[in-house]
Amino acid sequence: MEKLFVNKMVVISGGMGDIGRAMAIEFAKHGSNIALCDLKPDHAATEFLDSLKQYNVSCTYAQVDVTDAASVKEWIDAVELKQGIPEIIIANAATVTLASLYEITPEEWNRELRVNLDGAFHITQIGTAKLLQHKLPGRVVFIGSWAGYTPHPHIPAYCVSKAAMRMLCKCMALELAPHNILVNELALGYVAAGLSGNIWKQDLELEEKARSRVPVQKVMSAEQVALQVIQLCHPGNEHMTGSTILMDGGLSLLS
Ligand SMILES: NC(=O)c1ccc[n+]([C@@H]2O[C@H](COP(=O)([O-])OP(=O)(O)OC[C@H]3O[C@@H](n4cnc5c(N)ncnc54)[C@H](O)[C@@H]3O)[C@@H](O)[C@H]2O)c1
Repeated sequence: MEKLFVNKMVVISGGMGDIGRAMAIEFAKHGSNIALCDLKPDHAATEFLDSLKQYNVSCTYAQVDVTDAASVKEWIDAVELKQGIPEIIIANAATVTLASLYEITPEEWNRELRVNLDGAFHITQIGTAKLLQHKLPGRVVFIGSWAGYTPHPHIPAYCVSKAAMRMLCKCMALELAPHNILVNELALGYVAAGLSGNIWKQDLELEEKARSRVPVQKVMSAEQVALQVIQLCHPGNEHMTGSTILMDGGLSLLS
């Protein structure tokens, strides 16, 4: 296998989630050094970091709440000192509240926007500022959702946060294009893991219903998502920026 990112440095928020870990494994396979952050305590990451040792890359984990800009900055500063400046930045951390517009509390609404939108802003703004400062090229990937295109009455805060993140992606892409920093979004449909996977575990029929709704009649795995992220960051991609790859099995075609 050709290693695409030897000695590159990648940071991933929500790195202990299902898709976060799958991306870390794929980047490690490609020779990239990795720094993950998540809400979970440090010891929760030990086993996973150990499993990455086989790839002979440097891997670290820090407990960081992405809603707190100062903590994100402290983390990225520490990553720079210990492992180098991150040239690939992945805004992945997210949460979802199952509550309609008239059920959701102001606190739940705020929290969701703070994690999914502000958190994505903090890691990408702080990370790309370093690239600009050091005149380095880079890649930014926002992990979005088809729910940012299509209204879902039971998760309005999530839909709004992901739609706003898309515009953040475009604004950042335009600003950074002359600096060889490409910024894109991967908007996912149903993944049999993570946020959807956890909801489906509570009601097994839901997964079957979801699968039958998807035009391609399949739900994707976290590993398939990770492979698509690798493609987005491929060194051969020099022209795509401000774009969204809609990886949803055709779901968004339905509405
Ligand atoms: N699973 C799906 O079906 C699906 C569909 C569309 C989009 N996505 C997107 O994929 C991405 C990854 O989600 P996942 O499905 O792996 O879910 P996940 O719950 O497994 O991972 C999300 C991670 O984010 C972390 N996180 C939450 N709040 C945080 C905070 N304040 N600071 C730091 N970390 C925080 C969580 O602890 C968790 O580990 C998300 O952006 C999500 O919106 C997932």
